[in-house]
Amino acid sequence: MVCQDVHKALAEWLKRYEQVCVIADEAVRVDLPYPTLRIKIDESVKSLETVTEIWDFLFAQDMTRKGLVIAVGGGVLTDLAGFAAATYKRGIDYINIPTTLLAMVDASSGGKTGFNYHGLKNSIGAFYPPVETIISTEWLKTLPAHEFLSGFGEMLKTGLIDNGQWTMDNGECLWSRLLQYDLDTMPLDTLAPLIEQCVAVKEHIVQADPRETGLRKALNLGHTFGHALEEISIQYSEVRNLMPHGYAVVYGLIAELYLSVVKLGCPKEALQQLTQLMLHYYGKPQCKCSDRDQLITLMQHDKKNERAAEINCTLIQTIGHPVINQEITPEEASEALEYLFSL
Ligand SMILES: NC(=O)c1ccc[n+]([C@@H]2O[C@H](COP(=O)([O-])OP(=O)(O)OC[C@H]3O[C@@H](n4cnc5c(N)ncnc54)[C@H](O)[C@@H]3O)[C@@H](O)[C@H]2O)c1
Repeated sequence: MVCQDVHKALAEWLKRYEQVCVIADEAVRVDLPYPTLRIKIDESVKSLETVTEIWDFLFAQDMTRKGLVIAVGGGVLTDLAGFAAATYKRGIDYINIPTTLLAMVDASSGGKTGFNYHGLKNSIGAFYPPVETIISTEWLKTLPAHEFLSGFGEMLKTGLIDNGQWTMDNGECLWSRLLQYDLDTMPLDTLAPLIEQCVAVKEHIVQADPRETGLRKALNLGHTFGHALEEISIQYSEVRNLMPHGYAVVYGLIAELYLSVVKLGCPKEALQQLTQLMLHYYGKPQCKCSDRDQLITLMQHDKKNERAAEINCTLIQTIGHPVINQEITPEEASEALEYLFSL
């Protein structure tokens, strides 16, 4: 739920539990009167060690199976706390209170939890949805601009797959409403209804296909190329900043919209609109044409692939009409990357 007052929204839930523990991102101010574990967050702490730290904290509090965990933070924190809750004493209830835009529109709903293992992102995890997700845009007042833009990248993806069936508002589609949003000033009042719309799209899709056997793959638009770009940026991270997840998704969307135009005859307009937005706000990806072979190998090993060495993508026919399970040849992938790097 999107709300003004987190404490009020929580109050109803708190009545139902004998015991409550809070797992919070150190970057946010949390004033809940319960035992709290604060964790300094970056992607490197998305590990088994941190999950163990959360389990140990819950054991130290003698948390029973009837207790409630409240996870307050960005996607790293909610994925970790969700996994710890999924596995502690075979599963206890948890509530997500996302504090980044990305966690609000994506990570904190849908039930995917987990951590990185053997250098592979989210390679250990469980589907375990929170009993509630409480969203307030108030948290975003302290969020750095690049984190805001990262979350907006996932919103753009949602705009490209939403056909208005679940969320049509004033007859205007989500994609055009997102394009009208003022990214220079990032106003929170006009953002809230857009967040609500993105969450509604995700929830409808997840409800229809909780275990990602079909329709849910639509949510992977931009992520086949995006994940490979994100992985490669990890290798560069000693010399450059890590590419935020939502930036990688925007670059991935450009490559996949390019393929949507070439392979499925998607009108070029969305690709042009997104390219403009990328150049203005996100900048060009910090990869080189010479990274192409490595990116293709990474895509061939994507955990979403059903067959070894294939590249599997979601593309779109038009805005709001995703087409899942599109097989891409290495030559096509190379052409899409060449397009992206030429911008
Ligand atoms: N479970 C899912 O379905 C799903 C979906 C998408 C992404 N994810 C995961 O989410 C993670 C990325 O999440 P993220 O983008 O929220 O990053 P994040 O959790 O790393 O947060 C980004 C940074 O912002 C800080 N922060 C958080 N809230 C803040 C606030 N209100 N003010 C100031 N700083 C704040 C954090 O401490 C961190 O340094 C990735 O690990 C990704 O795999 C999960």
